[in-house]
Amino acid sequence: MTGRNTLTIIDNRTGKQYEIPIEHNAIRAADLKQIKVNDEDPGLLSYDPALTNTATCKSRITFIDGEKGILRYRGYPIEELAEKSNYLETAYLIVKGELPDVKHFAAWRQNITNHTMVHENIKTFIEGFRYDAHPMGILVGTIGAMSTFYPDAKNIHDLESRRLQTRRLIGKIPTIAAWAYRKMRGLPYVYPDNDLSYTGNFMSMLWKMTELKYKPDPVLERALDVLFILHADHEQNCSTNALRSVASSQVDPYSAVAAAVAALYGPLHGGANEAVIRMLMEIGSVSRVPEYIKKFKSGEGRLMGFGHRVYKNYDPRAKIIKKIAYEVFEVTGKNPLIDIALELERIALQDDYFISRKLYPNVDFYSGIIYQAMGFPVTMFPVLFAIPRTAGWMAQWAELVRDPEQKITRPRQIYIGEPERHYIPIEERPEPTQREDAVSEAI
Ligand code: SDX
Repeated sequence: MTGRNTLTIIDNRTGKQYEIPIEHNAIRAADLKQIKVNDEDPGLLSYDPALTNTATCKSRITFIDGEKGILRYRGYPIEELAEKSNYLETAYLIVKGELPDVKHFAAWRQNITNHTMVHENIKTFIEGFRYDAHPMGILVGTIGAMSTFYPDAKNIHDLESRRLQTRRLIGKIPTIAAWAYRKMRGLPYVYPDNDLSYTGNFMSMLWKMTELKYKPDPVLERALDVLFILHADHEQNCSTNALRSVASSQVDPYSAVAAAVAALYGPLHGGANEAVIRMLMEIGSVSRVPEYIKKFKSGEGRLMGFGHRVYKNYDPRAKIIKKIAYEVFEVTGKNPLIDIALELERIALQDDYFISRKLYPNVDFYSGIIYQAMGFPVTMFPVLFAIPRTAGWMAQWAELVRDPEQKITRPRQIYIGEPERHYIPIEERPEPTQREDAVSEAI
């Protein structure tokens, strides 16, 4: 043990030795460039497809310990926030870095509430989608289009502009999401009711019918608000990485958030909650669980809602969501799919295939069961993920914009294609054949 915070690398191709500093338990990939075999050598690259072991930024927002199943927003354990906070207060914490006092929370709530209305043209966009358009597709398109309503958002280095876009996006995404749902149902749009809480207002825009004023069920309102807290941020996940990469070109935040929503849409990410329900409905009964476990173990499909790139223990959010389910069922009646989910979990957590790969339920395993019990169609489930994650995306965006170490994202590659070759007139060319090592489809 020398106690020096460095890595000594010996390049066995040349026998040269290099001393590379270690900071925050990481080395800078750029420090590898000095390792060359000769002067023409561009230097060593680090190769990390899907960035499985690469930190792309320094962040103060969210801390995850995957081995211990720990999740904290700005240092506060997710369990305490889920029990004692509310989504809008947690959004303030994530965006501003501290919990608000009474005065600042009142101002924050007012600022968000003042931005729940959307431009009337947004209706035209939503009306332009097919009757059966997936609401995540509507969200991607509509949020991207919002960049054309707010050209001031291009002033990304202006603090007041960043604050205004943050309020607009956190305030308006529930309205757009609810209107996408109303369109699917062929129902008239409901305007925001600013007397209600953030989540209560969302429920009103979803479910208000002919009554003069919508009254959210307090148990369902609290359950949805806690689910929003649990989904508010999760450090450098796929959609946040997409947001940061797009935002690194200094584009406006609406375009960057649209990219994040697009990434979240995928079944391996935020679309997993929808995929879980479809899986549970396909399994259909507890008696068929062993048959499906066998399929997943043979690589035929995946146990959706299980596994995580970082958590190699139980996702702390899944534990909380499992408890919320029973509170919701008190109001909605039990969703029978939970019995299938519980049996899948019981068997999987005893099976070496899952244990050896450290596959545990993640945030998406039980959330869809609650959403379905509340009456949401499965296509709305990823939308319910995108709404709260907007606070995390805006905090990550601001952190990127202000980080002096950041610049436009432009990764390198390892070229394995053809060496130089020269153009041949078409008459002289051989028939194109599918080469053994071809990585693209033959035409
Ligand atoms: C979210 O990153 C985040 O923080 C995301 C998120 C957030 O809050 O932003 O937490 C939200 O996206 C949660 C994850 C939701 N996705 C799913 O539930 C889809 C099912 N799970 C997976 O496809 C998978 O577990 C991932 C995508 C979540 C993680 O995949 P990794 O880390 O790339 O792992 P892998 O695909 O390389 O799998 C490792 C092994 C493989 O087996 P072998 O090739 O070693 O034999 O585990 C197997 C995989 O086949 N495996 C699974 C499995 N997940 C991984 N086998 C069966 N069922 C699964 N769910």
